[in-house]
Amino acid sequence: PIGDAEAGAEVFDYCVGCHEVGAGAENGIGPHLNGIFGRTAGSIENYKYSKGLTREGKLGMVWDLEHLDAYLTNPKALVSDTRMSFDGLDDKTERDDVLAYLRQFSDN
Ligand code: HEM
Repeated sequence: PIGDAEAGAEVFDYCVGCHEVGAGAENGIGPHLNGIFGRTAGSIENYKYSKGLTREGKLGMVWDLEHLDAYLTNPKALVSDTRMSFDGLDDKTERDDVLAYLRQFSDN
């Protein structure tokens, strides 16, 4: 990502009610986001996803920059029946920044 990871740590405030990332991160309302870049959608064991996200993963959707950007812009536009109740981030800079932040916790 081309964003600013430090600014992205603050954008992640929108996500922390539902997601953990970093050392010791666990699933909560949403799945943990360690290794999200390159992860198959809906693939964390022991987390109960919506049928929609599970289906997309089985169809081969992998969280790359393009898919993450689309999902964060408008989750239901990418996966109509996703259970992520989040309106999305309209601001591209905020999306770039939060993705740069998350990228630090991914090997891909
Ligand atoms: C799923 C990111 C905000 C609840 C996901 C996934 C990503 C993500 C990448 C897919 C994970 C996977 O396939 O394993 C983010 C980011 C957020 C955010 C970066 C902030 C900008 C939220 C908020 C909530 C939430 C605020 C709760 C109100 C969920 C849930 C899922 C999910 C329940 C599973 C969806 C399903 O099974 O369809 N999120 N999220 N997220 N997120 Fe978020």
